[in-house]
Amino acid sequence: NLERLSMDDPSTPDAMDIRLDARHPAFREDPHAILDDLRARCPVHQDSVLDRVVLTRADDVAAVLADRTLSSDPFKGRPTTYGRAGLTDADRPDLPLPFLDDPDHARLRRLVVQAFSVRAVEALRPRIEAIAATLLDRIDPTRPFDLIADYAVPLPTLVIAIMLGIDDAEIEQFKAWSDAVLIGYAPGRTEAEVRDRNAANDGLNDCIRRAIVERRREPRDDLIGALTAAEAQGERLSDIEILNTCRTLLVAGNVTTTDLIGNGSVALLRHPEQAARLRADPGLWPAAIEEMLRYDPPVVSWNRQCIDDRLIDGCPVEAGQTVTAMLLAANHDPALHAAPHDFDIGRDRQKHHSFGGGAHFCLGASLARLEAQVALSALFDGFKQLRLAPGHDLHRKAIPRFGGYETVWLTAV
Ligand code: HEM
Repeated sequence: NLERLSMDDPSTPDAMDIRLDARHPAFREDPHAILDDLRARCPVHQDSVLDRVVLTRADDVAAVLADRTLSSDPFKGRPTTYGRAGLTDADRPDLPLPFLDDPDHARLRRLVVQAFSVRAVEALRPRIEAIAATLLDRIDPTRPFDLIADYAVPLPTLVIAIMLGIDDAEIEQFKAWSDAVLIGYAPGRTEAEVRDRNAANDGLNDCIRRAIVERRREPRDDLIGALTAAEAQGERLSDIEILNTCRTLLVAGNVTTTDLIGNGSVALLRHPEQAARLRADPGLWPAAIEEMLRYDPPVVSWNRQCIDDRLIDGCPVEAGQTVTAMLLAANHDPALHAAPHDFDIGRDRQKHHSFGGGAHFCLGASLARLEAQVALSALFDGFKQLRLAPGHDLHRKAIPRFGGYETVWLTAV
């Protein structure tokens, strides 16, 4: 059990292997020192403590993400392997889209993909702009404020609530439930937070179930309406599948977009010359968002399960082992980008692996890009004197796989 391994205990036999995860302070503070070394010396690395193979080269990461002979289902991994950590048999029937294999994956994805097309998402722009403006209005610019709590957390939750079609009167309650659910799963949660999470889960489920029943009676032009009406090749989604899909969107889309807004702001504030370029030429925003995704990705690593014995770049990987694609390392591979650790919004090539790849490529990529662009341009246009607030250190979240800040205190005067 991972939780029982002491991360700082040098007596743990392979303690060094646990360095490859943000729960370890050295990785949180300077992951590139570790990942560059690994890429140069051992790009297909056997992590014996976590029972996985870690890939750090861009080519290997891209190939593994696209390889349909690997599985996304954590239960295809053997019980000791990293991808299975924390899961019990009770989780098996409820696996969400990112962890399904075909044919279930193809069937479900076909039914939800339309709602996330570039066109469908672009139509949301005015509403996202309105949400950003309302949240910025609530910030008192004369005092330091926490960008994460005041802006980057509420924005994606409100956007997804509107997309789903949650009624205005219920939006604040919906947001409170989503926050309680996310806090209740965070490491270090208290018993009270777990109780709140369970109550909030019930509240969220009831709210979505009610909306499904209403849409079946009276169709509406929102995401829950689209999911109830979705039909492809004679297939429809059951109520449970619609409920699970809505919940997956909340989980997959909220923390990640929050962290893109947080990480992107920090990158710009630490590189004021790049912020100045954006102010001079707002047409650079889409390129800037791609560079933020490359430079400091919200999802640091993603897994596949190996279902047969095989060689990756000549190194043996066993059936049942997790293969971890280090997206952060791939984005900073010198074979992919010159000066990979520079933050440069004007790069000729913007390739990155931050949305995964292959059949599971992030469904919400267009939405995340639009939300980040609207949120960050409104923030930097609204506050011309924005800077990191003195006296407030930045701390990364100590959680595996994801890479964002706990808080980002800013001052605007
Ligand atoms: C899948 C990253 C935002 C919904 C993924 C994957 C990654 C990822 C790495 C795994 C892909 C793979 O297995 O190869 C991100 C990042 C985001 C973001 C960095 C923000 C910056 C969103 C949003 C939504 C969303 C806003 C929806 C509201 C999904 C879904 C999947 C997914 C449903 C599973 C797709 C499938 O398995 O077919 N995302 N995501 N994501 N993401 Fe995102």
